[in-house]
Amino acid sequence: MVTVSSFVLITAALWYCVVSATETQNCSSVAAIAAQTCQQLESSLGSTIVQTQTSGSEYAIGANFAWSTFSDEVNFQPSCIVFPNTTQHVQTAMKAIFENKADYAVQAGGHSGMIGWNTVQNGVLISFMNMNSTSYDSESDTITLLPGIHWGDATSALQQYGVAPVGGRIATVGTGLLLGGGISYLSPAEGYAADNYVSLDVVLVNGTLVTATADNEYADLFKALKGGGNRFGIVTKYVVKAVHTGTEDEKRWFGGLLVYPNSSSEALLAALAHFIHDTTDPNAVLATTFRTTWENSSQDIELDLVLVYNGTEASFNTSFAEFLSIPYTSSALQALSYLDLLNAVTFPDGLGTLFGASALTGVPASTLADQYLETYRLYNNFSTAFASSTDIAFTLLDFSPVPKSQIQAGYEKGTNPIVPPLGTGGYFEILFQVTYAEGITEPSPDVEQGRQLWISTAPSTPGLPFFLNEADANQQILATYGGYEFLKQVYTKYDPTRFNVQHTQGPLGL
Ligand SMILES: Cc1cc2nc3c(=O)[nH]c(=O)nc-3n(C[C@H](O)[C@H](O)[C@H](O)COP(=O)(O)OP(=O)(O)OC[C@H]3O[C@@H](n4cnc5c(N)ncnc54)[C@H](O)[C@@H]3O)c2cc1C
Ligand SMILES: *[C@@H]1O[C@H](CO)[C@@H](O)[C@H](O)[C@H]1NC(C)=O
Ligand SMILES: *[C@@H]1O[C@H](CO)[C@@H](O)[C@H](O)[C@H]1NC(C)=O
Ligand SMILES: *[C@@H]1O[C@H](CO)[C@@H](O)[C@H](O)[C@H]1NC(C)=O
Ligand SMILES: *[C@@H]1O[C@H](CO)[C@@H](O)[C@H](O)[C@H]1NC(C)=O
Ligand SMILES: *[C@@H]1O[C@H](CO)[C@@H](O)[C@H](O)[C@H]1NC(C)=O
Ligand SMILES: *[C@@H]1O[C@H](CO)[C@@H](O)[C@H](O)[C@H]1NC(C)=O
Ligand SMILES: *[C@@H]1O[C@H](CO)[C@@H](O)[C@H](O)[C@H]1NC(C)=O
Ligand SMILES: *[C@@H]1O[C@H](CO)[C@@H](O)[C@H](O)[C@H]1NC(C)=O
Ligand SMILES: *[C@@H]1O[C@H](CO)[C@@H](O)[C@H](O)[C@H]1NC(C)=O
Repeated sequence: MVTVSSFVLITAALWYCVVSATETQNCSSVAAIAAQTCQQLESSLGSTIVQTQTSGSEYAIGANFAWSTFSDEVNFQPSCIVFPNTTQHVQTAMKAIFENKADYAVQAGGHSGMIGWNTVQNGVLISFMNMNSTSYDSESDTITLLPGIHWGDATSALQQYGVAPVGGRIATVGTGLLLGGGISYLSPAEGYAADNYVSLDVVLVNGTLVTATADNEYADLFKALKGGGNRFGIVTKYVVKAVHTGTEDEKRWFGGLLVYPNSSSEALLAALAHFIHDTTDPNAVLATTFRTTWENSSQDIELDLVLVYNGTEASFNTSFAEFLSIPYTSSALQALSYLDLLNAVTFPDGLGTLFGASALTGVPASTLADQYLETYRLYNNFSTAFASSTDIAFTLLDFSPVPKSQIQAGYEKGTNPIVPPLGTGGYFEILFQVTYAEGITEPSPDVEQGRQLWISTAPSTPGLPFFLNEADANQQILATYGGYEFLKQVYTKYDPTRFNVQHTQGPLGL
């Protein structure tokens, strides 16, 4: 039904475009412009690189690659998908998109939680599926990542050299993570993932290729790409610092997953607030996943913590003493490699998912973690209100630490647009996630209302940046950055006609 009607629409629009173009050069329909751009690209790049719904066998894979099913082919049928093999293919595509004023989107690992940020209706999708290699250069001690690679694949390919990029905590996530800053298990020691850029190949909106580094004429662009998302150009190659994490056999970390019951939640929230306030040791690393599922309105809450220490079990015991003193139901603690860490937690694919963000500063041990409790209470209220909804599979609340050492590492590595002034204490980026049940193809209005209520009422500490990678599409994330004014200036310089904000979905505020 959807396919047939959009086919008719595109055909009609194309006819209008062809007929009227001879006289006025005015192809007023967005669909017609996209269809024409696709035709042009297919003749210049060929039908392997450029595929339509009816012309290519990879089209369906590309159109259904998104992790959140809300952004897959049920809701979005790109007019064509460009599968570049080279930077030049991306340049050719962007040049045509820019000249024709077509809508477009870019997709790397596909894990965006924002509907339509990594796909497009009546536009051109550039999918990096086939540009997915990585390599290590021991001389410069750097890693090259092509945008289509996933963190697990990159880490397993490179572990033989004893190195890893600063990347995601979940194996299946992709390199778009870098453009939102990126929080890694290596971040307490190395900064946001993007703080570890060495050089970036960037195709600007008009198709021009530049290589940006910390100290060449594109240094402003280089910095903007450490958190500005997809607004500043398309990165076709990332060269990043190699971190010496050891091979898979060298188990340099100690720790793993601890599962706590809901009766431990208040003590756990206090421990989190103390940890982020007090910790100065970049070797102590944690991640959280609080998850609520339900059956017949009966809620099941599981509080998962990954606690790891880069070092010995004795240091682990000391660093996480408060967490270890809180009753937990199970633990799997052992010596781990960095690759093991990336596989410690997995997430299901194939469900519609939406994110929401806030940020909280730490509090000293003597202070009650009121705002943490309130965040959790609002989360529980949502889960309770919708516990009988068959629309939802589960909800998550996550606290991602940004300790002082991470902020400082970012300053030492040339600064990024995200962080608050140096000297600001550590903070948590907070994620509220709603994952819909299988077969649900769009968010339902009542659930959406409840989710928006959490977003508008969840407490946050003024002056702290929210996390673009784990936010709602309508949140003003860039405006919470320390470098918001800087981002606006750089955007105007590299996209003077504001093509990107008019033709692709992405962060608000530029
Ligand atoms: C299960 C799960 C675990 C996660 N864990 C972490 C984590 O540990 N740390 C963390 O920081 N985040 C994490 N995230 C959030 C994740 O970083 C973001 O969703 C990120 O945007 C995913 O990047 P991607 O390449 O997979 O997604 P995509 O959807 O392909 O891309 C995300 C965005 O970036 C744009 N983009 C991608 N590549 C390019 C490019 N080369 N040039 C220009 N624009 C581009 C896309 O257009 C889109 O807007 C997680 C998300 C999920 C779903
Ligand atoms: C193009 O066509 C549309 C619809 O007919 C019209 O509204 C618009 O003004 C035209 N634009 C130009 C530049 O002629
Ligand atoms: C592009 O890469 C894909 C996958 O590696 C390959 O199948 C295809 O032949 C390549 N196309 C061109 C034009 O190089
Ligand atoms: C690149 O993608 C192909 C096709 O999905 C896959 O077989 C291959 O393992 C990937 N390569 C890397 C390095 O991830
Ligand atoms: C782990 O700790 C050691 C010793 O403190 C340090 O040299 C190394 O850089 C750390 N590695 C990582 C990946 O943080
Ligand atoms: C979980 O714990 C919180 C905090 O103590 C409490 O308010 C809530 O009711 C509990 N939820 C369930 C389902 O037991
Ligand atoms: C939920 O309800 C179904 C149908 O009434 C029943 O079969 C199932 O056992 C119930 N589950 C629980 C956990 O009570
Ligand atoms: C760490 O603590 C656990 C129990 O909490 C204990 O069994 C173990 O021996 C301790 N390890 C070291 C090295 O102190
Ligand atoms: C709890 O959630 C419901 C449903 O979203 C909402 O109507 C209600 O106002 C919420 N209560 C509080 C105290 O936030
Ligand atoms: C592309 O845009 C950049 C940044 O605005 C500009 O410097 C460059 O001249 C443009 N290139 C072309 C070919 O117009």
